[in-house]
Amino acid sequence: MGERGRGFTTRAQAKLWSVYSRCYDGLLDLVPYQRLVAQVVDALEARPGDTVVDLGCGTGNTIHALVAAVPDLQVTGVDSSVDMLGVAGPKLAAADVELVRSDLLDWLRSAPSDSVDRVVSVNVLYTMHAADREVFWREAVRILRPEGRLVVVTTDREGVGPVIREHFAERSFVASFSFRLVAVLVMNMVIWAMEARRVFDPASETTLRQE
Ligand SMILES: C[S@@+](CC[C@H](N)C(=O)[O-])C[C@H]1O[C@@H](n2cnc3c(N)ncnc32)[C@H](O)[C@@H]1O
Repeated sequence: MGERGRGFTTRAQAKLWSVYSRCYDGLLDLVPYQRLVAQVVDALEARPGDTVVDLGCGTGNTIHALVAAVPDLQVTGVDSSVDMLGVAGPKLAAADVELVRSDLLDWLRSAPSDSVDRVVSVNVLYTMHAADREVFWREAVRILRPEGRLVVVTTDREGVGPVIREHFAERSFVASFSFRLVAVLVMNMVIWAMEARRVFDPASETTLRQE
């Protein structure tokens, strides 16, 4: 991708996350998203006192569930969107959490080796192209302590589609209706459109496993 293409991608993503921050927590109305957050907390197997970083923490939903489940964690949430962090801040005010506005690759590059017990990143990797993912894997592993754990969740081209289908298989539309949920569906149509423009280019599971 050329310099112009990269500039467009960066600006388009920044705009997307800014707008999406206004309704993002509509995802919390979806049963599969609630389950996903709980599964991520379980998979992390964090222990009291652990140092944890959430890369692309968004509105802080993973951190919120994690600090409720495990005491005395030292958590850093990193996100490039000031608007996403603006929603996360009040939600996490009662917890001892540091929120950092930064590109996550820049943050990773500047973090010391062997300094973190748990690294988590949920639904962020699909926004990165292959060269950036290479940096992501290498740096995330570098900063982890020897007994550390990395939990990454991402999505494929179907995006939030399967999540919505799973939700409505269990809950009626009327019982689920909320304006923020409708807004989430609209935002995901925007994300699909951005995939068509290659702003996002989700990798297949095979590719990710090879990486
Ligand atoms: C789909 S949201 C996921 C938020 C959160 N992890 C969750 O699961 O609810 C993607 C988040 O990643 C952030 N993000 C995307 N690319 C980033 C980057 N290169 N550096 C930092 N944050 C990034 C966006 O600002 C957005 O908040």
